[in-house]
Amino acid sequence: MLTSPSALPVHLYRCLSCGQEGLAQTPRCEQGQPDRIYCPSCGQIYPILASGAVDFIGNPSDLHLSLAQAIAHSPGFAWSYDRLWRPWALSLLTGESFGAEREGKLLTEWVGAADPVLDLGTAGGYWSRLLLAADPQRTVVGLDNAAGVLVEAAQQAQPNWHHYTLVRARAEQLPLASGAFGAVISGASLNELPLDPSLQEIARILKPGGVFVSMHSQQIQGWGQTLQQWLGATGLRFFSESELQQHLHQAGLQLERYLSFGWVAFARAVRS
Ligand SMILES: C[S@@+](CC[C@H](N)C(=O)[O-])C[C@H]1O[C@@H](n2cnc3c(N)ncnc32)[C@H](O)[C@@H]1O
Repeated sequence: MLTSPSALPVHLYRCLSCGQEGLAQTPRCEQGQPDRIYCPSCGQIYPILASGAVDFIGNPSDLHLSLAQAIAHSPGFAWSYDRLWRPWALSLLTGESFGAEREGKLLTEWVGAADPVLDLGTAGGYWSRLLLAADPQRTVVGLDNAAGVLVEAAQQAQPNWHHYTLVRARAEQLPLASGAFGAVISGASLNELPLDPSLQEIARILKPGGVFVSMHSQQIQGWGQTLQQWLGATGLRFFSESELQQHLHQAGLQLERYLSFGWVAFARAVRS
């Protein structure tokens, strides 16, 4: 289960109402555990969900989801995605043996010693777990706009991950302090996020020299291109290395590593 709400990294949070960086929590419920956090400047309250995630969204009808995004909000998505698809996805999409061990090695190498880390579009927490398995002491914040997937992430958390916490929020409006994160990781989510607003937010919360690591579906040629055009109707967006480099650059992120495996690409960018 997830770490106790009393260990929330409130110093990393930012109020979405007034922009105050560093929020506060107060014990309110019977067990003495905090059930909400609040902004000491404007008083805005953010509830803590049963999963332990801090909710910066509130009413789900405020989310205007594309079809691709909406899938993660359907019941049972995270459970089946994490067990039936994700462990085999990279081998199937790349046509080579690409299990969790290889993916985790690449991820941990590219993230290095960066701390804290934001896992953007975490879903059931697959990339967070790869990172925390190698370094249980690291501070990792898993963020998603779907409440259900965060329940799955919380259930799969290990008791010795004392600095692993969850947040329900939008990638394009991060409730996180500027210049506070050593790394942002995004496993298989960049294709469905609003690209430029999300990259701007990633750059804002990274420390100078902080890294952004993404694994996503890149633009391909041939039959796959037609398939990607159809998938575009669901809101998914596919980009080439040079297109991504340009968007990263506009946000203040410099692409410094790019590995291409057919459909799949890994990118590492640094905040200048
Ligand atoms: C394909 S899953 C990726 C899961 C996981 N990171 C992995 O490595 O497999 C994409 C996730 O991004 C989330 N997502 C999509 N748009 C989002 C947004 N605007 N803000 C926050 N999360 C978003 C979805 O809810 C979904 O859980």
